[in-house]
Amino acid sequence: MSNNKVQIFDTTLRDGEQVPGCKLNTEQKLVIAERLDILGVDVIEAGFPVSSPGDFTSVEKISKLVKNATVCGLTRANKKDIEVAAAALKYAKRPRIHTGIGTSDSHIIYKFNSTQEKIIERAVQAVSYAKSFVEDVEFYAEDAGRTANEFLARVLEQVIKAGATVLNIPDTTGYCLPDEYGAKIKYLKENVKGIDNVILSCHCHNDLGLATANAIAGVQNGARQIECTINGIGERAGNTALEEVVMILKQHPYLNLETGINSKLLYSTSQLVQESMGMRVQANKAIIGENAFAHSSGIHQDGVIKNRETYEIINPAEVGVNESSIVLTARSGRAALAYRAKNVGYNLTKIELDDLYPQFLNYADHRKEVNDKDLQHLMELNHVHK
Ligand code: KIV
Ligand code: ZN
Repeated sequence: MSNNKVQIFDTTLRDGEQVPGCKLNTEQKLVIAERLDILGVDVIEAGFPVSSPGDFTSVEKISKLVKNATVCGLTRANKKDIEVAAAALKYAKRPRIHTGIGTSDSHIIYKFNSTQEKIIERAVQAVSYAKSFVEDVEFYAEDAGRTANEFLARVLEQVIKAGATVLNIPDTTGYCLPDEYGAKIKYLKENVKGIDNVILSCHCHNDLGLATANAIAGVQNGARQIECTINGIGERAGNTALEEVVMILKQHPYLNLETGINSKLLYSTSQLVQESMGMRVQANKAIIGENAFAHSSGIHQDGVIKNRETYEIINPAEVGVNESSIVLTARSGRAALAYRAKNVGYNLTKIELDDLYPQFLNYADHRKEVNDKDLQHLMELNHVHK
């Protein structure tokens, strides 16, 4: 694998599905898994097999279905979880067990009532046991974002020795700042023996709206896998959004980092997940929101009509959106009115446009948006002919 390839680990069906109130059935999960495979993700985290019989069945069926991506199942650091995950992944062409344990003081003390030494022991046992079932074992240090770097490095060194192939550094609570998270990855790259033989993975939550920024800081400092979900869905404020990290890396070629994602499928994949989950994203959601390529103020519209690049850093076709939209509102100028009128068949002369524009503003002042039907009506009212 080239050193500038960033693997995309999609956890829409596991961490993403932990959205309160959203449940996918097995059929829906299969449709999404197939789409993720076509989209080009490297890893599909299909579920947490021990958590319910339904999750087990989904992981098993996804394992049989997926052709290209690695299929991964989550476990805690215990034998039963690992055995059940291994059984669910039995039919996968490329199975991965994702096992781990909390490493921050608050997890060690409050969750496990344990000690650092015992946590290392459990981590090593879990990785060794998972390794007896599959070659590809990813270890997560839950709450790594709030774990002291020195202890984290000790844990990771031991799990590498036990055979871990990927090390996941979750900012479970979404607490880190980008420079802090990036520095953590850098520290691990520089201080953990054997780290160059494994992949470091960023798993960032969005509690402070920093999940995407943190994941990017991670890969800028040496991580080569990003764990993310379509539309950034997930527990609480969600996870890193797949479509955001993919387009950030694509739009900043000087970073010299690339993914294997077919970005033209991002919009349709987002729609599929929104419909299946019954959860719409906000209109201003980056990359795939309804307004991501919509221009409504006169100054911006005039610029975009002259040349798209004045106010757009992404060609909408790159993410599978047909074209940018010029939304007519009371903030629109003459250029936008002429442009939209032309789209419905009216080639306005300068005189017609000057006459019509004040009428248009009056009309628009009473509406959120002037659509094609309204425009047609306005032309008729003002006796403008095609
Ligand atoms: O956020 C987290 O720490 C997780 C782990 C279970 C990987 O989702
Ligand atoms: Zn998570």
